Amino acid sequence: MDLFWFSCLLVWPMSTVRGQTFELKAETPYSVIGASHGFTCKMVNGGFPGAAQGIRFMRNGDTICSVNKRNCNATDVKGGRFTCGCIKGDNSNVYLNISGIETDDEAKWKCGLGLYNLFSDLIDLPLYYGPGSSMTTSPATSNSHTVNEGSSLGPITCTSNCKPPCTITWFKDSKSSAIVSNSPVLYLTDVKTRDKGTYVCQAANLIGSNTTTIKIHIYGLMKSEGQTSLSFGLGVGVGIAICAIVMIIGICIGVICHRRYKLREKGGKAVICQQYLKNRLM
Ligand SMILES: *[C@@H]1O[C@H](CO)[C@@H](O)[C@H](O)[C@H]1NC(C)=O
Ligand SMILES: *[C@@H]1O[C@H](CO)[C@@H](O)[C@H](O)[C@H]1NC(C)=O
Ligand SMILES: *[C@@H]1O[C@H](CO)[C@@H](O)[C@H](O)[C@H]1NC(C)=O
Repeated sequence: MDLFWFSCLLVWPMSTVRGQTFELKAETPYSVIGASHGFTCKMVNGGFPGAAQGIRFMRNGDTICSVNKRNCNATDVKGGRFTCGCIKGDNSNVYLNISGIETDDEAKWKCGLGLYNLFSDLIDLPLYYGPGSSMTTSPATSNSHTVNEGSSLGPITCTSNCKPPCTITWFKDSKSSAIVSNSPVLYLTDVKTRDKGTYVCQAANLIGSNTTTIKIHIYGLMKSEGQTSLSFGLGVGVGIAICAIVMIIGICIGVICHRRYKLREKGGKAVICQQYLKNRLM
């Protein structure tokens, strides 16, 4: 008989938690340094508020916060960043609230009852970040590049440190519509003088975005200084040619007139050049 009661005493505390399991849920699958983050721990086959006693949240094996049973209030553990407790009107979840996420919080989390070693599965909480001030371009000698017209530019590689990795695009003259590359590498072949300008590398992920810029100067060759100077040169050429032709015709007429005028003068009749010309041309 003694043995029977002894067995009962042994089994009784176990039976109250038999079949209980815990499920830890992160409010978002990732977090960000400085942000707040929430977890909920759901007890399946259990009953609150009594059974909330001792439910703890653990980070990499250390207890961060345990729920106080008696009034189901929150107990801060390890500094003021962590608050855990019951959720009003909810008989199956307890919560952990973290204010001001730190790098240490990027860890494996679980929740449960330490006494019976009943815990949820481990959850990874990754910390995400945008490019911030991590952007660089290489070669990084300077952010200004000069290339000869007709030659190639690059490859210039734009890098950023992001989690998850950033999507990188290059565009020209701050016009995000004028995309010149959808990859981190900027490479231009047979550059023209019109390719000169500012090239912007933009890195973005769901946390944030940033840009870095480089300036490209094109060293133009004399023979084709772009279209405007070409047509200017053409205009000047045509102008000079027309002037020359008009001058030559003028000189010829002058010479002919002068000769005829002299001839007529010799013959006794003075004819003015204008009249002579009129007669000749009509
Ligand atoms: C939780 O309840 C206990 C007992 O009433 C109290 O002493 C303690 O201050 C409470 N803690 C918080 C964080 O409210
Ligand atoms: C957790 O913290 C956030 C932000 O401070 C707050 O809005 C929210 O009510 C808290 N959740 C609980 C269950 O206390
Ligand atoms: C973008 O990068 C610049 C240069 O590194 C940095 O000064 C700036 O703070 C960054 N902006 C953001 C929003 O991270």
